[in-house]
Amino acid sequence: MFVFAVHLVELSGRASAMLIVHDTCSNIRKTSKITAKNQKHSSPSDQIVAAFEKLETESEESSLFVEALTVVSSYTSMHEDICNLADDKSADLIIIPFHKQSNIDGEMDNGNSSFRGVNKNLLENASCSVAIFVDRGLTDSSNIKNDDGHGCCRCAMLFIGGPDDREALAYAWRMASNPSPNPNISLTVVHFIVGKDASVDLSPNNPNNDHDHHEDEDKNILEVVEENEKEKHLDDQYIESFVFNTRNQPSIRLINEVVNNGEETLKLISAMGNDYDLYIVGRGQIGSSPLTFGLSEWGDCPELGPLGDTLASSNIVARASILIVHQGGALVDELVDQHLSE
Ligand SMILES: *[C@@H]1O[C@H](CO)[C@@H](O)[C@H](O)[C@H]1NC(C)=O
Ligand SMILES: *[C@@H]1O[C@H](CO)[C@@H](O)[C@H](O)[C@H]1NC(C)=O
Ligand SMILES: *[C@@H]1O[C@H](CO)[C@@H](O)[C@H](O)[C@H]1NC(C)=O
Repeated sequence: MFVFAVHLVELSGRASAMLIVHDTCSNIRKTSKITAKNQKHSSPSDQIVAAFEKLETESEESSLFVEALTVVSSYTSMHEDICNLADDKSADLIIIPFHKQSNIDGEMDNGNSSFRGVNKNLLENASCSVAIFVDRGLTDSSNIKNDDGHGCCRCAMLFIGGPDDREALAYAWRMASNPSPNPNISLTVVHFIVGKDASVDLSPNNPNNDHDHHEDEDKNILEVVEENEKEKHLDDQYIESFVFNTRNQPSIRLINEVVNNGEETLKLISAMGNDYDLYIVGRGQIGSSPLTFGLSEWGDCPELGPLGDTLASSNIVARASILIVHQGGALVDELVDQHLSE
């Protein structure tokens, strides 16, 4: 696994945009002239670089490679630099921090609108997948010990359906089992199944069926039904291959839950309470599933999708961190095919 750790620094004054590469492969870091000149500004960056170096040295066996970079640019063009870098390095996933920070009680502050702008632009324009990380102190969860006395992280992946959820599951799966099963990470996938009392309005005029604002306007009911069927088929295939391939891993399990509406979905998640340190969800679209109907009223960041927004804006899972994944390109569906042909 290659990690490109990118420190984003706002471009100020008349300086021109630049990219600084920190050499993490050798113990003696070659500091470029640019960082040396701004020594007092570069120290937070240095600490982060040092943390990544430590990670790299500690995980020699699992062959993790880290390259630390600093990008200096204006907030309005930061996403372009990140996208170019991601394309250049053929990155599969860009992980960015949420623009709001949490306090000790898990309450979020008002956030930073410049950071939010960068995130929105990235979600809109990156050609690879993008995940937003709502950090509520995941690093502290290393204090929790599992049976072997190892630090552990208890992850829950909430699977409702659709491309973003499949991408989120792919990432969760990879986290818990690659390159080999990791006893320090437990993964519970909660598969939400649409109950028979769920109201499904397939009319193309229903804004809830507006999966893609630009293309769906001319769709008729048949096309909507067909598309929903196709998505459901891909979901089922992927879940099936996940269950089959992880059947011998005790730290991974799948739970099926039948729910009929957004309210029941939330009730179920609240009941999970503080059982997990990290929730992984797909971003999804508002109204793409009856199981998230009405959830958008909860939050104020629609870019996180109905479920992600609800979890990040409420205290339903106040002490858990959240990773919201949005699929870019068609990577996961290639992965589905790959798993199925194996
Ligand atoms: C956002 O963060 C940057 C960098 O810390 C800061 O310069 C800016 O004033 C912040 N903006 C808001 C609205 O808080
Ligand atoms: C995203 O990319 C398109 C096409 O390159 C461009 O027209 C648009 O302005 C970009 N959006 C942002 C927010 O950069
Ligand atoms: C699990 O965590 C412990 C310490 O917290 C660490 O020593 C060990 O290498 C970890 N195991 C794996 C497979 O990462």
